[in-house]
Amino acid sequence: MVFTGRYYVRTGFRTVNTLFRHFAGSLTSESAVEGALARTCMASQQSWKFDMKTKPPASNVEWEAWAKRDPLFAIATVPDREKEGKQPWREQDFFKLGESDWEDFHEAWTRYGLDPQSCLEIGCGAGRITRQLARSFRQVDAVDISEEMLAYALENVPDKHVSFHRCTGADLPIDDSSVANVFSCHVFQHFDDLAVAENYFLEIHRVLVEGGSLMVHAPIFCWPMAFERFERMRQVHKRWQDWKASVNRTLIAAGMFRPLMRRLEYPLEWFYRQLPKLGFENVVVQIIAPKSSGDPHPFVLARKMNWRLRNSAPTLTEPQPGQAWV
Ligand SMILES: C[S@@+](CC[C@H](N)C(=O)[O-])C[C@H]1O[C@@H](n2cnc3c(N)ncnc32)[C@H](O)[C@@H]1O
Repeated sequence: MVFTGRYYVRTGFRTVNTLFRHFAGSLTSESAVEGALARTCMASQQSWKFDMKTKPPASNVEWEAWAKRDPLFAIATVPDREKEGKQPWREQDFFKLGESDWEDFHEAWTRYGLDPQSCLEIGCGAGRITRQLARSFRQVDAVDISEEMLAYALENVPDKHVSFHRCTGADLPIDDSSVANVFSCHVFQHFDDLAVAENYFLEIHRVLVEGGSLMVHAPIFCWPMAFERFERMRQVHKRWQDWKASVNRTLIAAGMFRPLMRRLEYPLEWFYRQLPKLGFENVVVQIIAPKSSGDPHPFVLARKMNWRLRNSAPTLTEPQPGQAWV
């Protein structure tokens, strides 16, 4: 069992069935329909455009507010580094942190296999990682829900190969099959529920080229055997957190700032079950402890299925006498 600070993974040996019943039930019927549609289209190998019916997520309220109040601290939430803290973030330290973290993330992604042609970043914030993506990829697109964050990033990442776009928080304003890779860090952890993430994975599938890869950071957990009762407690706790968030959002919308930052944890098996259903393969969870903090950061890596390769995959021949399988 590993349990470290803000990012942690609890490993165990068995999935608790109720956990999945809960999550299956918590996905909106709309996203279930979208999922079914995506699967049908993938089965017939047609190009499929995700039809955005989902409303912008409620969490946009706090992120718009954070961007106005203290964007750098909202992104790198380190004690005392608030605007009014003892040691507020200075731009050069903030971007140095991005440089160091990207070195660690990039190394792991390169080992998995990536094409340096292009990358889309979801939730780019002030451009901490975007500036580094611009050095590793020929073309970069970056999206965020907040106009203030995008303005900050644009000023600090003045690279002609980088384009910034505002998104609603559930869709990607990017053409079908147009990017080779998708990256996101410290964003999926702030969604209200798995349905928001599932919509994004559908969108990622739509914009990626066949064989393109994704690397998405998300806190991940897995219950040890016979800990079913803890799952029920977790669900009750989540409902309480949902209720508190809705009260705080009402206050924020009325002009009273609240330091609200949701934290969503993902069941490990969710990625291995959902992503193949949405048309991804080679799903891998990798935990990276960046040298900047030493905090374990779980990432999921996956690849959009390449149907052409699949259809033309050579069938294995019988080994000839004397040939050894290794
Ligand atoms: C903690 S910051 C991380 C910024 C950046 N990824 C980094 O690591 O430096 C989270 C960012 O995600 C954005 N965000 C929040 N919800 C989002 C959503 N549903 N879709 C896209 N961006 C979102 C916020 O506006 C904010 O800029």
